[in-house]
Amino acid sequence: MNDPGPKPSSDLTMSAEAMRDLADRAVELIIARIECLAGDRPWRGASRVELEPLLREPPPEQGRAARDVLERAVRDVLPVAARVDHPRFFAFIPSAPTWPGVIADFVAAGFNIFQGTWLGSGGPSQLELVVIDWFRQWVGYPATAGGLFTSGGSAAILDALVAAREHHGAPARPAIFVSDQGHSAIERAARIIGVRPDGIIKVASDEHFRLPIAALAQAVAAARARDYTPIAICANAGTTNTGAIDPLREIAAYCSREKIWLHVDAAYGGFAVLSERGRALLAGLQLADSISLDAHKWLFQPFEAGCLLVRDIATLERAFRFQAEYMQDTRLGMEQVNFADRGLQLTRSFRALKVWMSVQTFGMAAFRQAVARAIELADRAGDYVRNSEFLELLSPPSLGILCFRFRPRDCGLPASRLDELNERLQARIIAAGTAMLSSTRLHGAYSLRFCIMSHQTTWQDVSHTLGAIEATGCDLLVS
Ligand SMILES: Cc1ncc(COP(=O)(O)O)c(C=O)c1O
Repeated sequence: MNDPGPKPSSDLTMSAEAMRDLADRAVELIIARIECLAGDRPWRGASRVELEPLLREPPPEQGRAARDVLERAVRDVLPVAARVDHPRFFAFIPSAPTWPGVIADFVAAGFNIFQGTWLGSGGPSQLELVVIDWFRQWVGYPATAGGLFTSGGSAAILDALVAAREHHGAPARPAIFVSDQGHSAIERAARIIGVRPDGIIKVASDEHFRLPIAALAQAVAAARARDYTPIAICANAGTTNTGAIDPLREIAAYCSREKIWLHVDAAYGGFAVLSERGRALLAGLQLADSISLDAHKWLFQPFEAGCLLVRDIATLERAFRFQAEYMQDTRLGMEQVNFADRGLQLTRSFRALKVWMSVQTFGMAAFRQAVARAIELADRAGDYVRNSEFLELLSPPSLGILCFRFRPRDCGLPASRLDELNERLQARIIAAGTAMLSSTRLHGAYSLRFCIMSHQTTWQDVSHTLGAIEATGCDLLVS
């Protein structure tokens, strides 16, 4: 009667002592990495040919010592990566997470929070409401607004376009509009929700990489004439390419007249609203029907911390709420929000915790200063480039991004030679471990692209890198 049955033939648990030992070692290793970061290379890579023999193996039938497994990951796997939190990582969009955010992810995983329903996680759901409401106030949205955390900006845009499509009655021939500077996540999301390639309309940007209203209006009229129904105009509040900000107020007025959903992709630039300068630059953001934000960018959180805000939360819930029978126990009344009713994911991790713990720990003043400082550093870098006899500014600093190339005054090099020279220069800077830089093309010209975002980047990091670019360019020119 009291027979406990057969003992499990294997065990997937650890003693408290073994858990502590493994966690202590992990913390030691992470802190050692962070302490050495500034002196380390901002990027390390290896080819598939190098990595295959190092890591390819069948899963072991018997387990190994947990510490050895951890040490191996930290030795062979994790260092072969971009250190996006390095103070001289200026490529793509840097991300320098704060320590309370890192610990929050660990704690949320340890408590194994299921953040899909209020029944599954009342406290965490309440906290997500609170943090989302902070964001709502920061962007200047009314009390009707709300949203949710997502894996990132791409998922936020996807959810936004679903809401937009449903808001427009899910037409048979939907069209979305974005400037040619829009992030590829917009096109991908449009494709996923069933917008055909002909319905994804890219409007040529102006000389400042902004979406021109007249061209937008023409494109909308032309699409309507082809029997397409516009379901969303996607404006940029900080393009990834140059940091350009579309004329948000004018676009919002146009969308309101034409009754078209306005999504503003503020994935990287949105948290600039925390600084006075950023808030002024992003005026009009609050007029959008939806906004995508990434707290893993300019709010200094570990990946994944995207967010979608919508001006009227009912639009999102109408698009995503389902009534499955096996979920009937989770219907606890509208007050008790089920975040699964607001987006793609049912099983969700507790992403709001990292933002909450970071903000509680450091206070908003520290975040405001960090954002403002990055904008100032980019402005100063812009002045450096303008005054340099070796560098040419190709797009001025905007929300922390500037683009330029090595081009000594009166050098007379043809465009193709300039492109090739700058490509080699970028490769040299990366290989030397000076900084991590990425590149882009602006009006056809190869351009180095500098994105300053880390709260740990100093003017010395920036000026040292710019000086190295000048010196390396001169070396290449004579060699
Ligand atoms: C402007 C913009 N939109 C969208 C995205 C995509 O966001 P995520 O990579 O978080 O999915 C990015 C990422 O860099 C971005 O810069």
